[in-house]
Amino acid sequence: MLYDVIVVGSGISGLFAALTARRSGLSVAIICKSTPFRSNSAVASGGINAVLKTTPYDTIRDHIADTLNGADNLGRFSAVSSMVVGAEEIIEDLQHMGVVFDTQENGSIAQRPFGGTKAKRTCYIADKTGASITQTLFAQCRKEGVKIFSNHLVLSIATYNEKLSGITMLRRRDSAVIAFACKSLVLAGGGYAGIYRGHSTNSQESSGDLIAIALRAKMRLVNMEFVQFHPTTLLNSGTLISEAARGEGATIVDENGWRFTDELQTRDKLSRDIAVHQAAGHKVYLDFRHLGEELIDKKLPSARKHALNGAGIDICTELLPITPSAHYTMGGIWSRDDTSTDMDNVFVCGECAYSGVHGANRLGGNSLLEGAYFGKVAGINAAKAAKKGKFQPIDYAQVAKELRYIDTIIEGENRFNINTMRRNLGNILYKNVGIFRHHDSLVGALEYIHYLMKLSSGLCCVNKERNNNVELMSIIEFRNSLTVAEAMVMSALAREESRGSHYRDDFPTKNDKEYKVNTIIRRLSGTFLRISFEGHLVSDWWHRIRKFFHAQ
Ligand code: FUM
Repeated sequence: MLYDVIVVGSGISGLFAALTARRSGLSVAIICKSTPFRSNSAVASGGINAVLKTTPYDTIRDHIADTLNGADNLGRFSAVSSMVVGAEEIIEDLQHMGVVFDTQENGSIAQRPFGGTKAKRTCYIADKTGASITQTLFAQCRKEGVKIFSNHLVLSIATYNEKLSGITMLRRRDSAVIAFACKSLVLAGGGYAGIYRGHSTNSQESSGDLIAIALRAKMRLVNMEFVQFHPTTLLNSGTLISEAARGEGATIVDENGWRFTDELQTRDKLSRDIAVHQAAGHKVYLDFRHLGEELIDKKLPSARKHALNGAGIDICTELLPITPSAHYTMGGIWSRDDTSTDMDNVFVCGECAYSGVHGANRLGGNSLLEGAYFGKVAGINAAKAAKKGKFQPIDYAQVAKELRYIDTIIEGENRFNINTMRRNLGNILYKNVGIFRHHDSLVGALEYIHYLMKLSSGLCCVNKERNNNVELMSIIEFRNSLTVAEAMVMSALAREESRGSHYRDDFPTKNDKEYKVNTIIRRLSGTFLRISFEGHLVSDWWHRIRKFFHAQ
């Protein structure tokens, strides 16, 4: 099959990219490894940030400053400012497509406060914002002729003479390896918080496949050590209880009813406060009871449902036990402000990208915005590149190699239990590369990852059927998880300071002199990774904000 533009991933960024490229008259396909509604975007419930003309007491300047502040001196000013300025247009685009945001009595869009700001900036649809937006975008993509291929797992970026020629994929239906050609490619396949299996808000599919694939294709990865823990997830299951809850006034208390923290500080700090309180032997709860049933049912229906289904608790009358879980990964595939990457005609957006926006810690409500905004930018630029470019031949030697790889996994003799290995990886990452880390815990995690890497070559399918072989997909995902985990831990070891979501017990302060830089991981040859730091980022952002507004 041939498509001008192929988009891998069906969260908000992939859908936006595909729709935008399609609207410039090109043939466009979306590839997703399961069904389109399992993305993290669909789970990001609380809302999407934007300063609107109707927003009282908020300014573009404050949104830029809050985002950079949250990023803890690692944000890229140009990326942040263009996203923040473009936010209102994104909200209008979504409204035109049929997204119906909650409104105030005067008809203007209602907004709630989220962490890391004093402003009410987050537009929402109850606590189902991401699901509503992705459903609308998906319907629009179908209506406008974007082809959607569900249940296809991308194996690699196909190249010919080092130029993009397409992608190779595993088709779940029959385990066939197939190749699609394209002139430009958008990577929008999500982050890697799912590798903290058992301790994550993400579905198990968030295994960072595209990040591992990009690394194999010699693209740079940036700031892989920055993993955001969401402060309020259900104890024992990791189910997300949206920040919308705290935005609407739910409080965080311990077993004595003590409100020991500020609920609307940034997620990195709040998660640390909770973890420290738990380590001192306390239980931690979300308290909704003072909000009343009417408000809860109107604005937080999903929180009520998740609490009831996941913990048997009615939040109208009972405290809800919570704990922080891995939620979002700031690290990703290096990109410029126009979403272009190290490889010509390959663009990246959404959580798998390092867009320069979130730095060391992301603000709640900025992920849907980042996904939509940079998805649109990627769609525009991928379309432009496709119009200028031409199809390159597919190298069938590469496809044959992947066919043999798949055959080996299906036909080989299995020696290990994938479920135990995945779970063990999640446990060690949570324990050793969690909210708090230090040199010895990171070295221990790295050694364990290397041990799992060795064992993983003995992972083969117990079920030898080729139809809909879930085990096969899991083995490939797990191998990708290990690649990503290695890059993440190496980056965490190299950053000998504490910044944003990366807290080192052995280096508990921020060291701007040495580490106000991005961590870069690159594959040299074979599986050998090189780690380095990018040149110093400009961090005098107050000065830059002033200059920016002066120039407007
Ligand atoms: O808490 C939430 O609703 C999550 C939102 C986000 O990650 O931006």
